[in-house]
Amino acid sequence: MKTPSLATLALWWAGVGSAITSSPQVESSLLEEIVARGHLRVGTTGSYAPFSHLVANATENGTSFIGADIDMAMSLASALGFTSPSPSVVFVPTTFADLATGAVAGLFDIGMSGVSITLTRALQGVFFSSPVLRVGKVACVRCERAAQGEFATLASINRPGVKVATPAGGSNEAFDRANFPAAEIVVYADNTDIFRALLNETADVVVTDRVEAELWARLHQGVLCAVRPESPYSFEELGYVLPRDMPWFQFVNTWLHIEQGSGEWNSTLQRWMDYAWET
Ligand SMILES: *[C@@H]1O[C@H](CO)[C@@H](O)[C@H](O)[C@H]1NC(C)=O
Ligand SMILES: *[C@@H]1O[C@H](CO)[C@@H](O)[C@H](O)[C@H]1NC(C)=O
Ligand SMILES: *[C@@H]1O[C@H](CO)[C@@H](O)[C@H](O)[C@H]1NC(C)=O
Ligand SMILES: *[C@@H]1O[C@H](CO)[C@@H](O)[C@H](O)[C@H]1NC(C)=O
Repeated sequence: MKTPSLATLALWWAGVGSAITSSPQVESSLLEEIVARGHLRVGTTGSYAPFSHLVANATENGTSFIGADIDMAMSLASALGFTSPSPSVVFVPTTFADLATGAVAGLFDIGMSGVSITLTRALQGVFFSSPVLRVGKVACVRCERAAQGEFATLASINRPGVKVATPAGGSNEAFDRANFPAAEIVVYADNTDIFRALLNETADVVVTDRVEAELWARLHQGVLCAVRPESPYSFEELGYVLPRDMPWFQFVNTWLHIEQGSGEWNSTLQRWMDYAWET
């Protein structure tokens, strides 16, 4: 190949230079805005252990939220170069129903709360980060019944006389109504009551995200068991919700890739799975 002359290179470079300055890609991005602002705004619900849980009093980190996604928010802030602890992340309380619209409205830079990657949220105008964790619906039952091989299939739950406890209005209730028309579905307003109903044997089965089923099985070891958590009844992944800004999206995915590849995310999740959550 013929080596280009210096003059040709200079012409080429001038062309690239003008292409860059006239390109819309140099318009300010959310990433630059966050760095200039000096702190990260994280939308979180505080209602989904082990990812995001609201406590009465502020922790040593100066926030009232605890959990795996709260620690990940701190890690993302340090990846952005924000080193001082509490003011580098501002947690913005939100709900699962408001996560996507809150991101679109610019109330926060990222939603971190054990959020399911759904097409409904995508259509509300957000990006999702690459998946953080595979979950999917899993049954949680009393261990003696799991040991007898009960409730190992959806068909074995969908029988007259089986009581399925479910929290009102969420994706668990929708799943139960769609899959267990023959069973009795018992609805509770408070999510904690669905597991209390299993413990006092008012209900036979709870079907929920793998992580929640495994968390309750740990909290009541030998009493509650997750049924075949390695083979969930549905495909579902958790991810972070982002406003549609490409440089920010790329930055978050690069950071997340490193967190996952280094094992940092696994040990963060493990720490909060082992935490003594109040029940
Ligand atoms: C939380 O704070 C309140 C008031 O500031 C205090 O009365 C209470 O004991 C604290 N609880 C814990 C668990 O530290
Ligand atoms: C405080 O922050 C550190 C670093 O992110 C984290 O490891 C720890 O779990 C946090 N403590 C609480 C109570 O959230
Ligand atoms: C069992 O627990 C559920 C949920 O907390 C509660 O509504 C129900 O009254 C309890 N039943 C008994 C017999 O204790
Ligand atoms: C993290 O945990 C998952 C699931 O247990 C496992 O497949 C993966 O290899 C782990 N990653 C690292 C880096 O340890």
